[in-house]
Amino acid sequence: MRTVTVQLRADDEIGTTDRRLFGAFIEHLGRCVYGGIFEPGHSTADSHGFRRDVLALVRELAPTVMRYPGGNFVSGYNWEDGVGPVSERPRRLDLAWMSTETNQFGTNQFIDWCHTADIEPMLAVNLGTRGGDAARALVEYCNHPGGTELSDRRRAHGWEQPHGVKFWCLGNEMDGPWQMEAKTAQEYGRIAAEAAKMMKWADGSIELAACGSSGRSMPTFGAWEDTVLEHTFEHVEFISLHTYLNNYADDTPAFLAGPDLMDTFIEEVVAIADAVGARRRSAKRIMLSFDEWNVWYRTRRNRGERVKPGWPVAPDILEEVYTLQDALTFGCACISLLNHADRVKAACLAQLVNVIAPIMTETGGPAWRQTIFWPFSQWSNFGRGRVLRASVDSPTYQANYYDPRGAQDLWFPVTAPYLKLGAVQREDGKALTLFAVNRSLDEAMPIEIVAERFGRLRLREARQLHHPDLNAVNTRDDPDQVKPVPLGGVQFKAEGRIQATLTPASWTMLLFEAAT
Ligand code: AHR
Repeated sequence: MRTVTVQLRADDEIGTTDRRLFGAFIEHLGRCVYGGIFEPGHSTADSHGFRRDVLALVRELAPTVMRYPGGNFVSGYNWEDGVGPVSERPRRLDLAWMSTETNQFGTNQFIDWCHTADIEPMLAVNLGTRGGDAARALVEYCNHPGGTELSDRRRAHGWEQPHGVKFWCLGNEMDGPWQMEAKTAQEYGRIAAEAAKMMKWADGSIELAACGSSGRSMPTFGAWEDTVLEHTFEHVEFISLHTYLNNYADDTPAFLAGPDLMDTFIEEVVAIADAVGARRRSAKRIMLSFDEWNVWYRTRRNRGERVKPGWPVAPDILEEVYTLQDALTFGCACISLLNHADRVKAACLAQLVNVIAPIMTETGGPAWRQTIFWPFSQWSNFGRGRVLRASVDSPTYQANYYDPRGAQDLWFPVTAPYLKLGAVQREDGKALTLFAVNRSLDEAMPIEIVAERFGRLRLREARQLHHPDLNAVNTRDDPDQVKPVPLGGVQFKAEGRIQATLTPASWTMLLFEAAT
């Protein structure tokens, strides 16, 4: 392949990353909570029942904000079931995942887990089977200092100090027929606006995200955002987006191109939100919360992978085993989010443990990193700061990305540059990180980076994720089959002119620091 040039200027910036861009998600689903983060009998469990081996991997992964308790689960959830004496908590049927919810874990424990992991909590309220009243009661229970029945109930439960939860989601995927009490945009917009009003009256410091579309291929996409924001514009700070990338079509180039449709999705939602603002002559800008994103398809279509018979507790569902090619598509999605840091101010990898997750566990056994763990941990640890507008002169390829809507087959044409790239300068100006995916499956890619106005740089680290087998995976018994290794041959040709060669089908992180 010919040399691909990448031009960067330290003063040409897209935006600064928000801490919340690097979030993840814990749902009461399968073994995400039970056997994932929480397993009181486990040999590594602390006094709360939190698995310390999982916490260690979570710290390495470095998510910054954590969405909870769902997901589809939240649309049938009574938050009151999960607080108070554990022995008195009810067992209930969870109609989202056809399991039995024991409520042994609930909101207060989640807050404790977040404190232990040093992660900001993000709570979703049930706007499916419940509504504004239950939502504002939960805000009062969590955030009011004391002196009311609800806040004193929290104190009596053992949490004297208010939780101070700032970020709240107004329901989940309310446009989806699979959701308990799904709604039309008009119905949801009204309920979300009324819930938002009361929640903010209970605590004026909170920030709210209204539900956008649960995918770009939803039939109501576009009209949904427009109507929902017509109702909620004055009451919310965020509109949500969800995307699960797939390779149902077994077409790797198209799969790797799929994240470019996330770029399109983001830009479309920004346009719609700004159009709603323009109709109001408003200077307010609604920000985007991409609060579910990942690769997910093997355990999605087949009902047997999503539902186990007999209403089990914490069944092993949605336990997607990720390959190297999944990690490459996933890495491209990280870059898409990064390159929209001006408007995507929150995002959550769905999910954290066991359920379509970067971390896997065996109940009673060890925990290990899936392939997708690696791009996320490098992105979160080294991708914070000023995102730079890179001018990339890469050859492109044509792909047809398959994104079904129910039983309907939909194909989306994409022209994808072989090089997908994101560049971030640390806020102190002393480090520059490049994340790059070579989407060519068979050609090495020589790149020349022209970095202007950075002063003298030197290479601190160059690591690539690659495997000769695109379908290589990490497992309990072979947990390090796919992991980043040093990339050699990164050379400075002159000040600010750097050359490297990217292996076919690889994710690379190049980390430079100011030479003193
Ligand atoms: O993350 C798995 C599920 O995907 C979530 O519960 C739901 O919101 C989405 O459809």
